[in-house]
Amino acid sequence: MNTRVLTGITTSGTPHLGNYVGAIRPAIQASNEAKVDAFFFLADYHALIKCEDANLIARSRLEIAATWLACGLDPARVTFYRQSDVPEIPELSWMLTCVTAKGLMNRAHAYKASVDQNTAKGVEGDDGITMGLFSYPILMAADILMFNAHKVPVGRDQTQHLEMARDIAQRFNHLFGQGKDFFVLPEAVIAEDVATLPGLDGRKMSKSYNNTVPLFEGGSKALKSAVARIVTDSRGPGEPKDAEASHLYLIYKAFAQPAETTAFRKELEAGLGWGDAKQRLCERVEQELGPMRANYQELMSNPARIEEILQEGARKARTIATPFIKELRQAVGLRTLGGAGAASSAKGQGKSGKSGKSARFVSFRDEAGQFRFRFLAADGTELFCSVAFADPKLAGAAMRQFQLADVNSCIRLEGVLGFSIILDGQALAAGIESDSSAQRDGLVALLRVAHASIAHEA
Ligand code: TRP
Repeated sequence: MNTRVLTGITTSGTPHLGNYVGAIRPAIQASNEAKVDAFFFLADYHALIKCEDANLIARSRLEIAATWLACGLDPARVTFYRQSDVPEIPELSWMLTCVTAKGLMNRAHAYKASVDQNTAKGVEGDDGITMGLFSYPILMAADILMFNAHKVPVGRDQTQHLEMARDIAQRFNHLFGQGKDFFVLPEAVIAEDVATLPGLDGRKMSKSYNNTVPLFEGGSKALKSAVARIVTDSRGPGEPKDAEASHLYLIYKAFAQPAETTAFRKELEAGLGWGDAKQRLCERVEQELGPMRANYQELMSNPARIEEILQEGARKARTIATPFIKELRQAVGLRTLGGAGAASSAKGQGKSGKSGKSARFVSFRDEAGQFRFRFLAADGTELFCSVAFADPKLAGAAMRQFQLADVNSCIRLEGVLGFSIILDGQALAAGIESDSSAQRDGLVALLRVAHASIAHEA
């Protein structure tokens, strides 16, 4: 299996340089590596925790989607989706909530910080704190565990959440796994040199400190005016500067090559004025961001296109999430009555209703007049299309044989992207290829679920 890398950005603001350096850029780089399946998503349910301004949330979702695409994310290569388009995530979040110790959440830094602020103000500790804020790390764990991500690129402030996700995953595996681990234990990945970018005032760049430099919004003008507001010490031109102690230098370092950074430091130490230093910083940042900003502006003028990309991403994500949540529902005991589980649920809703909600075969004649059939999952996803048969009886017999077969012995994985269906040593469907190994694994999992439902009807 390829390494799964997953990260999310909360859609409650306008992307700034800190998001770019700390999350977007490293995540996109990681997604371009071989043997990686990347999952990037808009954490819009998380946004509701921090923000009750509906228009701001709506605007931010658009800006952030456009930002990731403009920065070079390739939606054909990675799974790029909105959290709120994958209903399996909040469902998993609830299952995890039910196995998470309240005491674990009491220890979350974000929650504790809010309590401390209240205490300092002399009001009751939980004043103004919602359950959303309190259980936020569980929703984040669901985001990660839903896709069994191995690596999660995040800012350093999120490492505790990753530890919590591991704790919660272990607890669920232990309670319901019966020897099988449902969840991979995810690891945080923190970019070593530029883990947290300082903001204008030297504290971590963060929208909550109001010290950010906008990434694209406002154009190069906004960039310049934000850089002009970076706080420096009072040393004048000609006086040697302490580069390492200046956040202006640290921002420069996050964009420049090591040799450029060294040269910049030497200039500062030799007395480069802060005004000139700011000018250099702007130029260097602009060199990287200018071309991306042009992409961004083009995307922002075509939101329908972005919506389409996100819908396709959600569909891809759900090829994994849908079969997985079915498995988890089984594990925790949310099973259909009167049958052996998910298997019979498809049967129950199946032929009787007109909803077409069961897995099914669809026969057809191909262009050469031969007989084939497709096997579709309950939601209509095509799982495979059979080889051609000379007569419909043979096609029907193959269907029946597949229905009765042990599905695991029929599935032959090929490489990381492909699989075939083999019956009695012969291919029933050959060389089915997915765009990513995550998708292939999702399709195969869906195939198992679908087969279980038709096997029950046999
Ligand atoms: N909590 C993260 C942040 O504020 C955003 C986020 C939500 C996230 N879910 C995630 C990041 C899952 C990584 C993985 O930055």
